Amino acid sequence: MRLLVAGGAGFIGSTFVARRLAGSGDTIVVLDKLTYAGLRENLAHLEDDPALGPRLRFVQGDICDAAVVAPLLAQADAVVNFAAETHVDRSITAADDFLRTGVIGVHVLLEAVREEAERRPGAPPRLVQVSTDEVYGSIESGAADEDAPLAPRSPYAATKAAGDLLCAAYRVTHGVDVVVSRGANTYGPRQHPEKLVPLFITNALDDAPLPLYGDGRQRRDWLHVDDHADAIALLLEQGTPGGVYNVPGGDERANRDVALAILAARGRSADLLRSVADRPGHDRRYAMTGERIAALGWRPRVSFSDGLAATVDWYAANREWWERARGPGWDDYYERQYGRRLAESTAV
Ligand code: NAD
Ligand code: DAU
Repeated sequence: MRLLVAGGAGFIGSTFVARRLAGSGDTIVVLDKLTYAGLRENLAHLEDDPALGPRLRFVQGDICDAAVVAPLLAQADAVVNFAAETHVDRSITAADDFLRTGVIGVHVLLEAVREEAERRPGAPPRLVQVSTDEVYGSIESGAADEDAPLAPRSPYAATKAAGDLLCAAYRVTHGVDVVVSRGANTYGPRQHPEKLVPLFITNALDDAPLPLYGDGRQRRDWLHVDDHADAIALLLEQGTPGGVYNVPGGDERANRDVALAILAARGRSADLLRSVADRPGHDRRYAMTGERIAALGWRPRVSFSDGLAATVDWYAANREWWERARGPGWDDYYERQYGRRLAESTAV
């Protein structure tokens, strides 16, 4: 296939690109704006590889820019959209960019796919929109199937739900070939250090306190990034047009247990764990059923305990990567997000 991968310099996108290049004969164009979360070097090891590099091209650009998207899509059989602002805490502080990329950006992609389908009706391009379990909101008990109502509770989740609804509307109204995946909390190498797992690992490596929101009994379902990337590849090839697919990890944990596992993996004291002021509107639990994607033959292969141990080792061995990934705005961000919280923190 000739693939256009939007947001392919980020965490899950770069993993998808790596696994797809190695496991298929695809040619891939990555379109990425390189926000604070996108790193050119996430693709460097692929570009430098003589077997893979010639099939990969990088374009720096914005999915909201139709003039950039349309010519790239004209050369592609499908577009996989990872591009988004992805950190819930940042969406609470300022949601503008979330709306731009999550709503306008998805609309630009859908319009481009619609126009391209008119130009080549025999081989219309497919859009795979990478969405999230957060669109279902907090699931206090049981698990959401794909027909559960959308009930987003953070600005981030609301923009992802809007993207999903636009995809559904373009399927019904214009017949575009679109598949939506809704993945669970993903972890693994090259995740930006702002997110729970890499933040707690990198703080543990530095003997710095781990800021646990509220009582730390919120629950997330953990999915290894390789499994998430492979699920998206499967949906790209076998998803039903117009289909929505949950991608659960099947490994649900309370945040405090994740934190304690990270501290134990590095031999650090549990005293590093601090309870801090909670995230406003904090979702208590995410949980999804996964029968639909299981019927296509997918299941997660990496257990959370194995995947977490390997992820801890990766961050321990790649300090240069995560110090660069923090970027120039990190200290300000950290102070704004955690300064007061940590000053007022209590023992867990
Ligand atoms: P990430 O923040 O690591 O990467 C996002 C990438 O998108 C970055 O490379 C960034 O530069 C790029 N980008 C942002 N705005 C753009 C724009 N307007 N145009 C072009 N590129 C732009 O995110 P991630 O964790 O890899 O998540 C990828 C996708 O998967 C997102 O859509 C997210 O909502 C979804 N998702 C993530 C998780 C998770 O736990 N990380 C779980 C389920 C779904
Ligand atoms: O569920 C999928 C979603 O998972 C994705 O759509 C998002 O893009 C991704 O960021 C992630 O969202 P979460 O809000 O669940 O992830 P985060 O790593 O920010 O937080 C995980 C849990 O840990 C959540 O309950 C909040 C808590 N937390 C997080 C941070 C950063 C803390 O207790 N302390 C922290 O410092």
